[in-house]
Amino acid sequence: MDKKAIQQKITALRSELMEHNLKYYVQNIPVISDYDFDQKMKELQALEMENPEFADTNSPTLRVGNDSNQNFKQIKHKYPMLSLGNTYNQGELRDFDNRIRKAIGDDFRYVCELKFDGTAIGLTYKGGKLVQAVTRGDGQQGDNVTPNVKTIQSIPLVLQGNDYLPEFEIRGEIFMPHKVFERLNKKRVAESNSPFANPRNAASGSIKMIQSSEVAKRHLDCFLYYFLSDSAVDDSHARSLEKAKEWGFKVSEHMKLAKSMEEVFDFINYWENERENLPYDIDGCVIKVDSLKQQNDLGFTSKSPRWAISYKFKAERVHTKLLSIDFQVGRTGAITPVANLEPVALAGTTVKRASLHNADVIQNLDVRIGDRVFVEKGGEII
Ligand code: IVH
Repeated sequence: MDKKAIQQKITALRSELMEHNLKYYVQNIPVISDYDFDQKMKELQALEMENPEFADTNSPTLRVGNDSNQNFKQIKHKYPMLSLGNTYNQGELRDFDNRIRKAIGDDFRYVCELKFDGTAIGLTYKGGKLVQAVTRGDGQQGDNVTPNVKTIQSIPLVLQGNDYLPEFEIRGEIFMPHKVFERLNKKRVAESNSPFANPRNAASGSIKMIQSSEVAKRHLDCFLYYFLSDSAVDDSHARSLEKAKEWGFKVSEHMKLAKSMEEVFDFINYWENERENLPYDIDGCVIKVDSLKQQNDLGFTSKSPRWAISYKFKAERVHTKLLSIDFQVGRTGAITPVANLEPVALAGTTVKRASLHNADVIQNLDVRIGDRVFVEKGGEII
């Protein structure tokens, strides 16, 4: 093959693999087998290796990560990364609603979203390409974790279509799905490492790892929920996120427009029960005024927007008394210590027993019978 043909082949493979990534990770409609996908990826890796002049920092081959040692550079956020005010009951939400009606009248609608329990990330795209990924940090500046974020398969490196904004930031939450979390903790315990307390800690720990090839093995995922740019995509936040979906971002399908607080409460009540059936953790709901113009009129306090608020579900962490420890022998002969606890209500269930994984964990935690212990629900109960 001459150089021109090689370049064409590389370009074709890149766009084909990106297309398959989108179908597999975002749209959930894979059209080729994993085997065929791997073959194409290997072919592209080989071509890129042999022809370094055609390197591209957004090639899908970079998803597998590299082993170079990075020190995270601090990057100042172009738009400060604020958090949300919290509410814990309907009364506090009604107060929020009243404040909004007082400021902008009654002609508006809310978008209700899930509050993903992971770690916040800001992604900057220029000319349709991912150029930077920065953690929240202190809200003013965060860690540049771009190579690590590039290993997250559902985050597009290059956008789809041609109507994306020339430059924008999109924010979202990096999380670890329950299945991945459970697998990871099992492996850690088997290797005598202490397990992560919950998927959130696992996600935030993973995104800060030094080697991006290790991050790639953590199979993180990311939902996007907030645009920041000098020119808007659309006046409606919900429609802007629809656009984001078209460009290849993973946007939650569990979003709902609401005209009244009754509809907002219905959404919250529904998810308070239904969350246990989700394959990832949420810790509440987020309620946002949909119109960007109205968001703008409402503005921000020094800490958070006046146009959005979170509603936090009841604690997923409670404490109780450790009554005794049993040792269970599994099918393979492995011994697992199990804590018998004073029954305690946690996220809709009563917890009486919890795995302590192995003897090392007991020793590390220095747990003793009669101690008061925290019980936390992650993907599994710990
Ligand atoms: S919107 C200006 N939407 O919860 C604030 N945040 O303390 C824009 N989060 O910082 C944030 N799910 O890390 C928004 N659907 C969602 C969210 C969400 C989770 C996180 C995010 C935020 C924190 C609020």
